[in-house]
Amino acid sequence: MGSEAKKRVFSGIQPSGDLHIGNYFGAIKGWVEHQSDKENFFCIVDLHSITVAQDPDTLRDQTRSAAALLFASGLDPSICSVFIQSQVSTHAECCWILNCITPLGWLERMTQFKDKAGDQASVSTGLLDYPVLMAADIILYSAHEVPVGDDQRQHVELARDIAQRFNHLYGETFVVPEAVIPEAGARVMGLNDPNAKMSKSFADVRGHAVGMLDEPKEIERSVKRAVTDSHGEIIFSDDAERSGVNNLLGIYKAVTNKTKSEVEKDFRDARGYGDLKTRVAEVLIEELNPIRDRYQELIKDSDQLDKLLARGADRAASISVPKLQEIKSKVGLVLSGGP
Ligand code: TYM
Repeated sequence: MGSEAKKRVFSGIQPSGDLHIGNYFGAIKGWVEHQSDKENFFCIVDLHSITVAQDPDTLRDQTRSAAALLFASGLDPSICSVFIQSQVSTHAECCWILNCITPLGWLERMTQFKDKAGDQASVSTGLLDYPVLMAADIILYSAHEVPVGDDQRQHVELARDIAQRFNHLYGETFVVPEAVIPEAGARVMGLNDPNAKMSKSFADVRGHAVGMLDEPKEIERSVKRAVTDSHGEIIFSDDAERSGVNNLLGIYKAVTNKTKSEVEKDFRDARGYGDLKTRVAEVLIEELNPIRDRYQELIKDSDQLDKLLARGADRAASISVPKLQEIKSKVGLVLSGGP
């Protein structure tokens, strides 16, 4: 297949906090699995992270760490442009222009904003504007597909609305992107509270998340401690009371790529939830061990990592700089050195 025929993919990940298996199964694993037949842009969205307070040194470390973890998970730098959002200034510039055509009410309705703002004494303007920057990320690249976990569905919808509004106001400019949500692992729940999404914000809560870099012993401990129920049957279920077992089965399904009935068959002869937890921990450890090992190698060589990121940023700029010129021209800004 020629590169013209390849679908362009854009997705992003925040470098705030340790990446966990929700990020992995909801997003990264799919990026890796589908990379070879796509044209790929993956962005470490540090500008999104600073919408809430960050320690500067920690943010810098976590940004590099997130990049190393993406490569360690299997993204191939020869076919994926992995880059740091703040190193490509088109994103912030495009965001401003999109701000000017986005009704405030669209942003105030976003459920993630309402959830995040609810926790804080003081809310930054950036937090409200977060989904417009995300729309800029995506539509600057004319991306067709945005592979994300279920929690980003509403944000991608908003990016579609903004692209359509701009096209309506200024003529055909943007591709209207589609969210691509994985069949398994789209919503990994907290192990300590299977009715709440696994989240970096609760990374410090014991037994909430499995980090992508957790040692086998920690993984075992977290999974063993996972909340279950007293029913005892190991089957998928929509019953909120049984969401703990459902979550563990969902994680197992996401690792093994099996169907629901194959997963249930694997546990037909299990002796209770103890067996289920042992097996889930085993498959997770098997999946994450090689990633952790590759990560340890990559993070040591910061020059090489910075080179890969610089190359990713160059490739990203080669697409987004001309696109931003087109956008500026459409809205009537005078281009430097241009018409
Ligand atoms: P972030 O950093 O919160 O999450 C990165 C990816 O991981 C997915 N994810 C999950 N999937 C399943 N279960 C979970 N518990 C879970 N937690 C997180 C997210 O859905 C996401 O795909 N706003 C985005 C970053 C972003 C972006 C973009 C994404 C900025 N610009 C442009 C796509 C395109 C975010 O906060 O992701």
